[in-house]
Parts: sequence; structure tokens; C-alpha cells
Amino acid sequence: MPKIVFIESTGARHTVDVAAGHSVMQAATENFTPGIIAECGGCLTCATCHGYVDDAWLSKVPPRSRDEEAMLEGALDPRPNSRLTCQIVVTNDLDGLIVHLPVRQS
Ligand code: FES
Repeated sequence: MPKIVFIESTGARHTVDVAAGHSVMQAATENFTPGIIAECGGCLTCATCHGYVDDAWLSKVPPRSRDEEAMLEGALDPRPNSRLTCQIVVTNDLDGLIVHLPVRQS
């Protein structure tokens, strides 16, 4: 089962297991990881699942869609490596993916 590593802005680190086919957002919420709210449940209408994909993993995740880019404009402190984690589907290739969490969600 792939592992996803969430790192809070404080440096607190949470390594969680998630089934392939679930989203990175679900990896956080199913494991009660702080920092991911996911108000819309993954419908791409809230931007409260914002995270920063670690630079070492950027080339391994699929690119953002136009709709995701539009929603990210409403996120707090968006950066080039910003993603809405509900839009990243976990595969075995993403085992060990590191996602940094913002100070707070928008
Ligand atoms: S959970 Fe709402 S946009 Fe990702």
C-alpha cells in the first residue's frame, strides 16, 4: 500500500498508508491528518485541500487541469508546486510522495 508523507508548516510529519486509486486528499482525511479540510469532499469546488508537492516529486504527479488551476487562485499563498490534493490519484508510483501543507487553508 503506498505511503504519503504530509509535512505541516511547523515541520510535523505524518506518514500515512492509502490504497491506490484513492486521492492524496483522502490519504489525509482517512488518517485524520491535520491541515487538509476538504470541505467539498473532492468535487473541486473549495480549494481547502491545498498542498505543495515536494520538488523531488513534481515530475511524477500528473499536471494540473485548467479547472484545478482556476480553483487554486482562491487558495492561500499558491505557488508553482501548489496542488489541490483531491485531484492527485495515488498510484504505486507515488509511494513515498511528500506533500507540504500550507500554514492554513483559505
Ligand atoms: S476537496 Fe475541495 S477542491 Fe479538493
